[in-house]
Amino acid sequence: MKTISIANQKGGAGKTTLLVVLATALAVNYGYRVLVIDGDPQQSITKLRASDEPALAGEREFLSDPTLDFPYPVVSQELAAIPDYLAQVEEAFDITFIDLPGRADSSLLNDVLASSEVVLVPMQATFLDQQATLDFLAILHVLAEYCKKENLEFQPFGVTSRKTASREEKEMNEFADAAGLARFASTLGNRVAYTRLSSLFSFLDLDYLKRIDAKPSIEQEVRAMCDELVAKANLSPATVPATV
Ligand SMILES: Nc1ncnc2c1ncn2[C@@H]1O[C@H](COP(=O)(O)OP(=O)(O)O)[C@@H](O)[C@H]1O
Ligand SMILES: [Mg+2]
Repeated sequence: MKTISIANQKGGAGKTTLLVVLATALAVNYGYRVLVIDGDPQQSITKLRASDEPALAGEREFLSDPTLDFPYPVVSQELAAIPDYLAQVEEAFDITFIDLPGRADSSLLNDVLASSEVVLVPMQATFLDQQATLDFLAILHVLAEYCKKENLEFQPFGVTSRKTASREEKEMNEFADAAGLARFASTLGNRVAYTRLSSLFSFLDLDYLKRIDAKPSIEQEVRAMCDELVAKANLSPATVPATV
């Protein structure tokens, strides 16, 4: 199992959105056994899942399949409990995504990050975001040193998950490069479609894109990011064949 945390000290950086987009596509279309841990006291993903219940009921009826379930479970866990919880679910899943709060007790947060093989850091380019992200890069640096000493796999990546192509964004990328933070080449655009998140339907599903009035080009954008994550996280091929 690979544990992938999505983290940044800044609230509103796009953590939850990036997590749901990736988790849903990797479960539905790539066939990975995905688990999502909601470690954010704001419980955004837990609330999203609850709001997706009527859509699941609709799909069950539409497909005449009362056993149809969500593509992955969402489990709420206190930060302090997450490292032990990960050990328990190790065999049952291929990928565990962890949604983390913007602000948290740093030692608890650090334990969760150090238990993750990959940390995705959504980077936004406004001045305040830059400051918060820079502080966070310093923490990641310390953690990376620690994990190296302990021989633990630990790969942090900056991800532009709300691309604006602004001067500030270019600056943010330069900061990240100077800080030695590896970056994803693929990006997600700043699009209304990403505010229409679903933990049931994937953005790789062209019918779903049509239903939410989204451009079909989103499919390529999301696929490129999934492919890059699979490669960078060294994910082994999925145990179940992909549906698309
Ligand atoms: N790529 C994007 N395009 C448009 N809106 C986005 C995008 N990513 C995030 N958002 C919006 O930005 C806000 C904050 O995103 P969210 O994922 O909740 O951040 P966080 O979990 O870091 O607090 C939400 O309203 C979300 O819909
Ligand atoms: Mg969030």
